[in-house]
Amino acid sequence: MDKLVCVKDFEEAAFRILDNNALLYYKSGADDEITLRDNKIAFQRWMIRPRMMKDVSKRTTSTMVLGKPVAFPLGVSPTAMQKLAHPDGECANVRAAASMGTIYILSTISTSSLEDVAAAAPNGRKWFQLYVYKDRDLTASLVKRAEKAGFEALVLTVDAPYFGRRRANLREGFALPPHLRLANFQKGSENSEVLGKNKESAFAFHDALLDQALTWEDLHWLRKLTKLPIIVKGILLPEDAETAIQYGASGVMVSNHGARQLDTVAATIDALPGIIERVAGRCDVFLDGGVTTGNDVFKALALGAKMVFAGRPLLWGLAVGGEQGARKVLQIYRDELDLTMALSGTTSVESLTKDCVQKYGMTSH
Ligand code: FNR
Repeated sequence: MDKLVCVKDFEEAAFRILDNNALLYYKSGADDEITLRDNKIAFQRWMIRPRMMKDVSKRTTSTMVLGKPVAFPLGVSPTAMQKLAHPDGECANVRAAASMGTIYILSTISTSSLEDVAAAAPNGRKWFQLYVYKDRDLTASLVKRAEKAGFEALVLTVDAPYFGRRRANLREGFALPPHLRLANFQKGSENSEVLGKNKESAFAFHDALLDQALTWEDLHWLRKLTKLPIIVKGILLPEDAETAIQYGASGVMVSNHGARQLDTVAATIDALPGIIERVAGRCDVFLDGGVTTGNDVFKALALGAKMVFAGRPLLWGLAVGGEQGARKVLQIYRDELDLTMALSGTTSVESLTKDCVQKYGMTSH
């Protein structure tokens, strides 16, 4: 692992290690993968405006998120089925995040139960990603279990009433290997038999559980069900951010689900400025999608994100070296961000503003 010094190195190494079933599932985007490419390229359309002679000898990457500190503003996005990457899966990933002082978001569709993940890092900051199912009792029981296990926020994913068309998976098929199960669906719960055990068609069954009739009124229902802060994930338009606030969201996450849902939507960094403007400080705004360097983190924060998250890069870290690999990926983000701050004349993430960046081809911003 010593020779792997950036996220791209981890990606290339993971591509050599992962079996085809896992790799195609992890790396794919929807349809023509135009947004998948653009999520990354869009960051390159912004340049950093570095200030000189600013005494950068003392710096901190730490910041406060939902009232508590994080050591640096890059956390782990929820990605399904992390045991496909490494036998320790979600538990290794949450331990890596906790040891680095950042936030881990657990997917509902995990291969380790939320209780096991909580026990793996009792002192780490953990949020729980939620899908709302037609069966509201099943949904409510997940919320209650997450509360009890110590998850400190819910991340409600709103961009996936159906799963997008990831062509490689359609061509090759995807199978949850026989030794793995969707572990949050316990024996005894109404749907456990199909969700937990039916490997080949785990997705079809999950699709069937999802409530395609979801509306903002359901956020109201969720708001009443729990005291946990709710972050609405999958927002790409200012008007949806506005509505999320009206319905009681504590935060919105600008996300296109890693470009796995609707293709040719905006890259997240392009969607961010309009949302920041509309939200105008009324709630925290987070972002994920294509964040692969410390420079990317810097740009998103400069444009107003409170904190950003990465999904696939942590899967690459897990595949290469389990907990240690995931930790190394997080260290890379932290160290790159710290150096970017130093070289651009900034000593704290709070002092990042849109003056720190400029769009290519524009003389002002
Ligand atoms: C995801 N994502 C996701 N989101 C979610 O809310 N629940 C989930 O279960 C999953 N599962 C999932 C699996 C895989 C393999 C990927 C790649 C993504 C989306 C995820 O939370 C996040 O939005 C993206 O991964 C961010 O993009 P990057 O960092 O992968 O470019």
